[in-house]
Amino acid sequence: VVYRSSTTAPVNIAVVKYWGKRDPKLNLPTNSSLSVTLSQDDLRTLTTASASEAYTEDVLLLNGAPSDLTGARTQACLRELRTRRAALEDKNPSLPKLAHLKLLLVSENNFPTAAGLASSAAGFAAFVRAIADLYELPASPTELSLIARQGSGSACRSLFGGYVAWRAGDKADGLDSQAVEVAPASHWPQMRALILVVSAAKKGVSSTSGMQQTVATSGLFQQRIATVVPANMDLMEQSIADRDFAKFAEVTMRDSNSFHATCADTYPPIFYMNDVSRAAIRAVETINQAAGKTVAAYTFDAGPNAVIYYLEENSEAVLGTFYPLLQSVDGWKQSTNFKSTVQLDETISSTLKGGVSRVIMTGVGEGPQKTDVY
Ligand code: DP6
Repeated sequence: VVYRSSTTAPVNIAVVKYWGKRDPKLNLPTNSSLSVTLSQDDLRTLTTASASEAYTEDVLLLNGAPSDLTGARTQACLRELRTRRAALEDKNPSLPKLAHLKLLLVSENNFPTAAGLASSAAGFAAFVRAIADLYELPASPTELSLIARQGSGSACRSLFGGYVAWRAGDKADGLDSQAVEVAPASHWPQMRALILVVSAAKKGVSSTSGMQQTVATSGLFQQRIATVVPANMDLMEQSIADRDFAKFAEVTMRDSNSFHATCADTYPPIFYMNDVSRAAIRAVETINQAAGKTVAAYTFDAGPNAVIYYLEENSEAVLGTFYPLLQSVDGWKQSTNFKSTVQLDETISSTLKGGVSRVIMTGVGEGPQKTDVY
């Protein structure tokens, strides 16, 4: 017999960034963070976990290719899930004995890996959720977030849809370092995201190593975790509760700027944004000026891609500005033929034209979904 379970998990993009570990082994962060879960129609990982007596070793197939399962983080997740299943089998002797069986994990993304989007969050969230479902663990998303966190910090936020906080916690064992839902997607379903995929010349510093260098060398970072992030978390949660886009946008942009400033303050400095990223920032500023209010917010992770949050009602101002420049790249949805009156500076236009290789039009979405498709 083969026991099987499949699930999807979403990508999330932080508006208050996680950057820094207080315990690299348990993946405990130096600060809380907050993200928006993006729609799985556009971005998701689908993972099927199977267990069988016939399997002789644990195997992971990622987009069709055999992939490493021996890393310490993956092993930590597997160990914890198996321990929980074993405890369940001890309590209920009638359950099939799955904890000792080898696993086959088949995982696929619905977006091109070449897009350079960090998929580790969706990947680890789907990994943990698929095995937890296979094992029928009676665990809430918050409990599973403690396990996914050990795979990749940002993965703990992908166990929920909508607006999600990862509370840093202060316990040494990390049992209070977990994700919680701040608001479901239905609370503020008008939130949209336009991702400008920017091809980087070479792969930059990984977030795992970048944040360790920042913690070790940046003075600015101390201020970020002591005062900047705590204030941003409060403002962000308030702006979401009030559906106050102007406040949401300002905190999003300020927090991204603060995070990239600590990267520049790292010694030697780390640069994730490039000229195309900076052109996207200028474009967002021009759009907001022309609108006479804040209708768009940029944010950047550990790479040059721009994520631009905006509300559905302002689609014309935002999409209409980028579409004429970028209409030849992949990813526009059919409904897009907006025109805007916003006039971008010539240098900004040509930098965006030359540097954006694809767009992804998406918006806030739901958390992991159990599925029959395998
Ligand atoms: C800039 O979650 O990829 O995207 O815990 O080492 O796997 P590890 O790091 P990871 O870092 C994400 C950093 C970020 C900000 C964020 O998502 O909050």
